[in-house]
Parts: sequence; C-alpha cells; structure tokens
Amino acid sequence: PAASAAAVIRAARAGGYALAAFNAVNLETAQAVVRAAEAQSAPVILQFSQNAARHGGLANLAALGRSLKAEASVPVLLHFDHAEDEAVALQALKLGFDGVMLEGDNPVTLRRLADAAHDAGGYFEAEYEVVVKGERSGERHDDPAQLAQFIQSSHCDLLAVDLGSAHKQESKNARLDFGRLERLADLTSLPLVLHGASSVPLDELARAAMLGVAKVNLATDLTAAFTRAVQRALDAGARDPRQYLGAGRGAMGARAEEYIRALGGAGQA
Ligand code: G3H
Ligand code: ZN
Repeated sequence: PAASAAAVIRAARAGGYALAAFNAVNLETAQAVVRAAEAQSAPVILQFSQNAARHGGLANLAALGRSLKAEASVPVLLHFDHAEDEAVALQALKLGFDGVMLEGDNPVTLRRLADAAHDAGGYFEAEYEVVVKGERSGERHDDPAQLAQFIQSSHCDLLAVDLGSAHKQESKNARLDFGRLERLADLTSLPLVLHGASSVPLDELARAAMLGVAKVNLATDLTAAFTRAVQRALDAGARDPRQYLGAGRGAMGARAEEYIRALGGAGQA
C-alpha cells in the first residue's frame, strides 16, 4: 500500500530533503506542479488555498487535485493551504485533501481539526508562528516548553515556523535565521514548514531542507513565471487560451523543477 501522506513528509525530514509545496489555482498551474514532479521523479505537494477556493470553488479544485494525483507517476499530496476557518478545512478533508493547514492559534480548534484530519487518514499543519504578509511584525516563541506544549495540545503533525521569510515577495531579500532553525529542529522531530519561500534565495532553501524544514511553500515566484510567459505569448500574438496558458504552464513547470532540485527532492519518489 502507498505510504500515508504524513509518512511521506516525515520521510523527507528524516532524509534531509524537503517537499516542494506549490500553490495552484487552476488546471494549468496544477498540471505544471505535477508534471515538474514527474520530470524530477520527486514526491510533491499540490496545494490550493482557501483564497484559491474562493476563485475556483473548493469542490472543483478538490476534484482536479484528486484526478491529477490518481494519474501521477509520483506521490502527490493534496494539501489545503491557509484555511481561515475550521468548517472549510473540514469540508476539504471530506473532499479528499490529504492534509490541511489552519491559520490561528486557538488550541481547541487546532486539536479538533487535527483529530478530524487523523480520522480521515490525513495530517494537520499548525501555524506555531505566523509568517508575515507585509511588514515584519511576527512574534516568535523561543521558549522550548511553549513549543512542547503547543505540539502536545494541538496534535499537529507539521509545524509552520517563522525563520525570517515573508509572504508574497517577488524579490529574494529575506535571509533565514539558521541558528533558530537548528534550535527548533533540536527541540522537535516534527517536519517544519517554511511559508513565504519565494522571498528566500534557492541556496538558503537548500540548506534549510537539510536542517529540518520538510515542506517549503511556494506561490509568488511560480505565479510570476506563469504570468510573464502568458504575457510574452500574448505579446507574440497568441489568442487561443491553449497557447498562452500552455506557455504559462511550461514556464511555471520549469521553475518548479529548479525548486525541486534545490530542495533535494529529485529522485526521491
Ligand atoms: O502558503 C503559501 C506560501 O507561504 C507561499 O509564499 O507566495 O511567498 O511563495 P510565497
Ligand atoms: Zn503561506
């Protein structure tokens, strides 16, 4: 039988590599993710956010994800990213997502959702620290007892932590705090999750993957590659959506392959 989704992520942490977790919003971006993973023989995480679900419909995206996963020649984990409320996250689990991430730190809600994910055979990613969306204002928790307490009370399988990245940055100006990563990785064997990875240079992502980060969330950089290629195709006169969306898919896939290689995922499928 196929390994559970949680086991695939734990194997990455134990093996010193990270799964790329790419955000998709439609057919072409989701295909770009899966094709890149197949080209690199890598396990991959295909994720849709609650924001993406507002655009495409949760059930539609779930069906798309399930069908790509079923056809793929590599392990594809279907992840529901940045759930803003518990009800939508529960719905995602019902629709076949392998794992969910919930924003927020209400211990009762976190535990309830974690238990629901486990009952469904899936995993739960909790946000131990928030990665900032704009200006740096995030709060870090450096008390080891607090970390242990959070893990114990939330029942989470994956821990999103703040290592210095920021969401939605097109330039790679963030620098990771590797000292902090090593301290966190010493305190827990749970796979750590890095959000906002578009803001981080590839060599730093590579190093983080060897030090305990096992899921690296990437959206902005891939979206930018997709959109630039669509723009070029339109400028060159393409009018059939298959032409310009196909160009976007190809460019996003090429970029995704670079990240997969940097994170050590190539050949791990
Ligand atoms: O959850 C998604 C991510 O954290 C993506 O961040 O857009 O900065 O790559 P990014
Ligand atoms: Zn994120």
